[in-house]
Amino acid sequence: MSEKTKKKILVTSALPYVNNVPHLGNMVCVISADVYTRFLKSLGVDVISVLGTDEHGTTTETKALEEGLTPKEVCEKYFKIHKKIYEWFESSFDCFGRTSSKENLEITQDIFKKLNKNGFIRKDILEQAYCPKCKKFLADRFVEGVCPKCGYKDARGDQCENCGALLNATELVDARCKICGTKPITKESEHLFIDLPKLAPMLEKWINKQAVKGRWSQNAKTMTEAWLRDGLKQRCITRDLKWGIQVPLKGFEKKVFYSWFDAPIGYIAITKECRKDWKKYWFGKDVKLVQFMGKDNIPFHTVLFPASLIGTKEGYILLDRISSNEYINYEGGQFSKSRNLGVFGDDAIKTGIKADVWRYYVMVNRPEKADTDFSWEDFQSKINNELVANLGNFINRTVSFINQFYKSEVPEAKPDKKDEKLIREIKDEIKKITELLDDVQLKEALKHIMHISRLGNQYFQETEPWKAVKENKKKAETCLAVCANITKDLSILIRPYMPETSSEICKQLNIKELGWKELGKVLLNKGHKINKAELLFNKLEDKDVKKFKKEFGGKKVEEKGDENPKEPFSKLDLRVAKIISVKDHPDADKLIVIKINLGKKERQIVAGIKKHYSKEELEGRNIIVVTNLKPAKLRGIESNGMLLAAAEPAENGENVRLLSAEKSSPGDDVFVEGIKKEPEKELGFEEFKEIEMKTDSKGHVLYNGRPLKTKKQKITVEGIKENAIVR
Ligand code: MF3
Ligand code: ZN
Repeated sequence: MSEKTKKKILVTSALPYVNNVPHLGNMVCVISADVYTRFLKSLGVDVISVLGTDEHGTTTETKALEEGLTPKEVCEKYFKIHKKIYEWFESSFDCFGRTSSKENLEITQDIFKKLNKNGFIRKDILEQAYCPKCKKFLADRFVEGVCPKCGYKDARGDQCENCGALLNATELVDARCKICGTKPITKESEHLFIDLPKLAPMLEKWINKQAVKGRWSQNAKTMTEAWLRDGLKQRCITRDLKWGIQVPLKGFEKKVFYSWFDAPIGYIAITKECRKDWKKYWFGKDVKLVQFMGKDNIPFHTVLFPASLIGTKEGYILLDRISSNEYINYEGGQFSKSRNLGVFGDDAIKTGIKADVWRYYVMVNRPEKADTDFSWEDFQSKINNELVANLGNFINRTVSFINQFYKSEVPEAKPDKKDEKLIREIKDEIKKITELLDDVQLKEALKHIMHISRLGNQYFQETEPWKAVKENKKKAETCLAVCANITKDLSILIRPYMPETSSEICKQLNIKELGWKELGKVLLNKGHKINKAELLFNKLEDKDVKKFKKEFGGKKVEEKGDENPKEPFSKLDLRVAKIISVKDHPDADKLIVIKINLGKKERQIVAGIKKHYSKEELEGRNIIVVTNLKPAKLRGIESNGMLLAAAEPAENGENVRLLSAEKSSPGDDVFVEGIKKEPEKELGFEEFKEIEMKTDSKGHVLYNGRPLKTKKQKITVEGIKENAIVR
């Protein structure tokens, strides 16, 4: 056992954003931390692991708007989903919590106060990106554009994924709002900043030492250097939001902390929430902090979080070892939480494929040094060739053979040179695996574990016990006794990766679950009674692959995760249209035929407004049109859309007034803030009728109490009272 593993260890996995169903991309990090922790526990190390959900910030507020819930309700809902999925994946974190807890509020405010007391907080005016269309300040991550440093065209406002540069959203070239694509403007307000320049000397000294001592991965060093290279700048830690931890400083009570300030502090708070002895870990001199995360999280863990802790001068432990994975790509796309793409935890559950198999795949494909790819074919080939044909086969043939030929009792081993050679080889492998795991090279270690099973299969094949059992009893007996003990070793080695399978092997071998120190020992001796063989893994058939591909392939996060029915309005595609010309309908008194300009396209619609408007009033006017209705024929003339008007009862029948948007341009999108458009291709008229829109007293049009608008204005309607129905 190495020196390093003797200390107490605190393992964390990046806290996933709560506002979505976690996908396999999130699982890489969670499962990695779990595998590593289970390994340490098997070694007998004093270790605890921490996981939870990152609940504050704009992403949650946005989701709340979308789903018509409060941010708190969003968190309640998704916290449960996250918890269930991690449990299904057999994650065994000692502490599982959330950043919206009272513990996090207390510790975050406390850390802030200490930073302030020690002179590391400054007030300054912040120029923030503000989307005039969404009418809100945009979190850095919600602004995209060209990186001013390297020219990468899809850089995010907090950081460029390509060159690692730390950015402010306002620095992006050709910036756009991630939600609606509008160019943000900058607005000023007073905010609080952590004084990184003042902390820099301490911070850099620590980083330079720790990056070497903790053998930080290359991506961690590169990204961290990118932050330091440009000189540390003060960084804003407050936001103009409601959902978050209140800033405990006079004049700033209306603001909350930036979620990247309070989220890492969440690790501490989650530990506190579930462990009375939390201080032993977070302030302990003999504790090693090992943190798992995706590469986009690096600088927050190597710079911002340590800076916050150093600045308190309270003696918090700092990051020792960082394991920052790259991404798993999905058949060409990315499993990226920030880009909302991937396969989801609940999809994995629905396949009926065991959690262990998913864990195996994610670990053997772990994007340790470069991105890797998930494809269903690769998944199938790894299950069938590695789990079924290698590991499963070796264990199954060993147990079955002992069942069948030795009445389920382990025979006696009298190893000769050839057997000894195998035993030695396996001991070497075990040593190598232990070193790799100690070094958090989880993928390499797993490959070596599978190599042991491969060696076992070769040995079985070459020894031919099915022949030897008749011709050379000693040879066959030794072979099976050796294989039984290798199987025992495999149960220990795969336990961190596939805990359930490990238990199943122990059951078949009729042994209790064993720790790392039992590796390489002969524990199954002559006469040890074992149980019946049972298949550990099932083959994944072509037809299943086909089915899964169709069923689960490449869904986007947005399409999932809300069991709520879609907001009906989201099905509509409403646009501003300019009337080009108006003709009477040849066969109907009340109808007119209108040509409209929709920006790039022209269309013809038929409308029943002849009684209410003259041709002159109509031509050149901007109206609002539903553009995604099923085309219809009205008295023989094709209509490709429907104009919207408000109607109310009047003395002589009905008062009907057109919706308009004179300050907007043809083709402009008409939307309701917070409702994401997912227009149906051909909306039926019945469905359309269920979408209720009404006028208000100011002549605006409301859906569910919220105004319809374009990026330039609210939709208006004149000459009609409040509560008129729009259709
Ligand atoms: N929620 C962030 C993400 O998913 C990770 C936060 S890690 C923590 O990218 F340190 F802030 F907790
Ligand atoms: Zn916007």
